[in-house]
Amino acid sequence: MSTSISGFSKLSKSKKIDWIVDSYFSNKEDAKSILKQYWNTNDKLQQLHDEFIENTITNYYLPLGVAPNFLINDTLYTIPMAIEESSVVAAASKAAKFWLDRGGFKTEVISTIKVGQVHFKYHGGFEVLNTFFKAVKPQLIAAVKPITKNMEKRGGGVIDIELKDKTKDIAGYYQLHATFDTQDAMGANFINSCLEQFAQTFKEKAQQFKDFSDSEKNIDIIMSILSNYVPECLVKAEVSCKLEDLNDYSGILPEEFASKFIQAVNIAEIEPYRAVTHNKGIMNGIDAVVLATGNDFRAVEAGVHAYASRHGRYSSLTHASVENGIFKFWIEIPLALGTVGGLTGLHPLVKLSLELLKKPSAKTLMSIVAVAGLAQNFAALSSLTTTGIQQGHMKMHLMNILNQFDANAQEKATLVEHFKTNNVTHSAVVEALKHLRTKH
Ligand code: HMG
Repeated sequence: MSTSISGFSKLSKSKKIDWIVDSYFSNKEDAKSILKQYWNTNDKLQQLHDEFIENTITNYYLPLGVAPNFLINDTLYTIPMAIEESSVVAAASKAAKFWLDRGGFKTEVISTIKVGQVHFKYHGGFEVLNTFFKAVKPQLIAAVKPITKNMEKRGGGVIDIELKDKTKDIAGYYQLHATFDTQDAMGANFINSCLEQFAQTFKEKAQQFKDFSDSEKNIDIIMSILSNYVPECLVKAEVSCKLEDLNDYSGILPEEFASKFIQAVNIAEIEPYRAVTHNKGIMNGIDAVVLATGNDFRAVEAGVHAYASRHGRYSSLTHASVENGIFKFWIEIPLALGTVGGLTGLHPLVKLSLELLKKPSAKTLMSIVAVAGLAQNFAALSSLTTTGIQQGHMKMHLMNILNQFDANAQEKATLVEHFKTNNVTHSAVVEALKHLRTKH
């Protein structure tokens, strides 16, 4: 049985590794050398990574790929993607190249409002609470001035605060529901700092409010935190072309392609089992760019899936139509992203990725990320409704299977050639490798 430990966080990195290796690994030297293999030789850079999180023992690499040829609102981009899954970057690249000759992607940032809430309990009359809220609201906004003054200079700040009565759901439960404009920052720290100040001022001023009874004065703050549900931080991305221009993507006639494609989208709109996988394919593109640009993919994931369920049933994030001979395919997605603050100014590869994207504003990054999701979905649906997904996906996955069996350069070259004209499946690759090895 493994042992527990107290004071682990206070140990040095090398002592932490010693403890882990002693407690969990039979081949201690091997385990240690794998961990150390991933340390950066530049001590300063390694220290930077060590200090991103707590109890760091090594680095966990993800490949950073790039997908070129993305024409977005008439500007050409090469999009950085950090992801471990084969065929995602190829799929995005293929879709980008296809739409490059058809006007590219068009986007519209619909809104950029972020939300935070102070959750509190109050047992008393609503009218008097509402009167207090109206009286104290300017003081709440004044109390956060030291936090908001720089954001205001950049054009952002607190937009509004509302009092919400949630007592139908939980007795005595109310919220201060605040909205924010955080400009180019994702704004989590900014919003949380404002909320905690709102809570403190709200509680203090309640104590002094003469119309409250003694018990009403005791407002019980439960918590103050931003929401990752951002249905008003919304971007739309779209591609469209004449029906007849839907040629050469997958070798079938444009009308048939469009019809099958739209049916696939319609199925994802009404069938949650399919919608989850459909949206997973979209998130292949979204998360990869979100990660490469140092944004919080967990926040994005949570917000996106909540949005996909907003009508009471989990549904597709993309939609497609043909009207008057024009094929249209679009996504509408909530994305709270930042291009300043957080990791964006710290992680060298994040800085490089943002420079590759021409140092975008948060709004431009919202557009780019939405486009990556749309492109990914276009490529996946095009394959699913024509050749099937395995043909292209397994072609890209071939190298992983060969690496799993330690194929050398010569074996790889021979089998890559062989599988240009043969279907890639795991067992076919294993068989072909076995065959090759017995021949020599
Ligand atoms: P293909 O037509 O065999 O590719 O497609 P090609 O060799 O003819 O090349 C055409 C272009 O594709 C290239 O142009 C590249 O843009 C790109 P070029 O660069 O030559 O001018 N491309 C590549 N880019 C980088 N590296 C490569 C590469 N190969 C092609 N090695 C492809 C092959 C995989 C692109 C296609 O079959 C495809 O798009 N498949 C879909 C793959 C996919 O969606 N993968 C995601 C993982 S599966 C999943 O998790 C999601 C899913 O479940 C979601 C859902 O159900 O909706 C499917």
